[in-house]
Amino acid sequence: MTGFHQARWAEPLIFDLSGSTAPYPHENIEELTKYLPKDIIRESLEIPNISEPRVAKHFIRLSQMNYSVDLGMYPLGSCTMKYNPKIADEIINNCNLEYIHPDQPIETVQGLLKVLYDLAKYLCEITGMEHCSLQPAAGAQGELTGVLIMKKYHITNNMDYKDEVIIPDSAHGTNPASAKMAGYKVVEVPSNEDGKVDISALRDAVSERTAGLMLTNPNTLGIFEDRVLEMAEIIHEVDGLMYYDGANLNAITGVARPGDMKFDIVHVNLHKTFGTPHGGGGPGAGPICVNDKLREYLPVPIITKKDGKYVLDYELKHTIGRVHSFYGNISVLLRAYIYIRRMGRKGIAWMSKIAVLNSNYLLKKISRFKGVDLPFNKDVPRKHEFVISLQRLKKDTGVTALDVAKRLLDFGVHAPTIYFPLIVNEAFMIEPTESVTKDELDYYAECLLNVLNESYSTPEIVKSAPHNLAIKRVREAEASRPSSMAPSYLWFKKRSMAKL
Ligand SMILES: Cc1ncc(COP(=O)(O)O)c(C=O)c1O
Repeated sequence: MTGFHQARWAEPLIFDLSGSTAPYPHENIEELTKYLPKDIIRESLEIPNISEPRVAKHFIRLSQMNYSVDLGMYPLGSCTMKYNPKIADEIINNCNLEYIHPDQPIETVQGLLKVLYDLAKYLCEITGMEHCSLQPAAGAQGELTGVLIMKKYHITNNMDYKDEVIIPDSAHGTNPASAKMAGYKVVEVPSNEDGKVDISALRDAVSERTAGLMLTNPNTLGIFEDRVLEMAEIIHEVDGLMYYDGANLNAITGVARPGDMKFDIVHVNLHKTFGTPHGGGGPGAGPICVNDKLREYLPVPIITKKDGKYVLDYELKHTIGRVHSFYGNISVLLRAYIYIRRMGRKGIAWMSKIAVLNSNYLLKKISRFKGVDLPFNKDVPRKHEFVISLQRLKKDTGVTALDVAKRLLDFGVHAPTIYFPLIVNEAFMIEPTESVTKDELDYYAECLLNVLNESYSTPEIVKSAPHNLAIKRVREAEASRPSSMAPSYLWFKKRSMAKL
């Protein structure tokens, strides 16, 4: 197999590299600490004693053990892990942003406010909405902001009996979590055999108690909900609101708009669609856009223009309050602004079309492989992502989706999202994005084919993978509790046990 392998080796902890620890206290310690309160001065500190070149090698090696969007395809379905253009970093690093203080008088930050104002306008245009708050720091926080707006809207308009939010069974877990956090009861509607919302089940679920419907479109199966206008009519008929989860906006940007689909509230995960970093669970940005009737409910302040000046408007009549300090997550917001300006109107539409093309190209190749099934109607087109089931593989060989994901890592590629959405058994959810080349798609398909063939011939290799990485198969439950598994924690534990 050709391609994208990377060097992998085990790198010791920096403490284990060091034969000794650096002497402490420092010889000038008295001079250095004379202005510090005595009770905060440590008596000793054990830090590794290593030469500068070895420190450099240590951290470069650690960075090479990592996988990133700059290294190869990162096909986490629903997460849209796309390339983050370097031009955005270059501009942000050279625009003296660090010299602006958020408490500065607004007359002195007019440039920044203009950029944020324009970004809000672009997002409104892209989503087909009318007003925008850039404050929420993630999609999930955008969701909570959105459902809080929904709640305040109904309370203000004497509909406080509305206590249910309807959510399809294919939805991301943050949807029911957000609704629940806002105090709603969640009513689930099933998907039909086409993988879309079952409209008659939706009709049955709707009542005077319905506050709204939370919908991802295309949904998490990568399928476009083409009866969305009908759904909007059903929800609006009982004064409910339509909430658009923008996690999959990358499939339709510049091509279709949630506002035209009659959504009232939209969140946009900037880190998914507009090439900004995801970070480790943040810092991201999940601006929220609403139509005219919900403007007064937005978090404050919003940036407006008065007498040719950009000002912060705190006077929204029914505001839900603040959801973030100051203006929001500025360095992420600015990157999204740069991305949109750089791509332009045509570029943004092109991006979504290529994302859909890449996904369908890969799907065509993969869906023919032994052990793979495409759940729900095969003739319904998939968009920017698709979900296959490895249930047949499991039945034939005992190899699970988790095993296949682990074995893929041995080939130097990142695994897709697995076991989501919950309505697909042994789900394998792949979203290549527009950032990858045909070579990368071919290589990914080749890797997967290899692993599936191995599953039939030598399943034990797949079941015990990964084999080529510094870290072998981890126990999933422990690995997801990093505080007790982190190397630094284990090191300290070892040390403190040794001292006892
Ligand atoms: C469909 C969907 N909705 C909401 C979210 C939450 O977004 P965020 O990760 O920005 O909080 C995700 C995250 O992956 C998602 O896939």
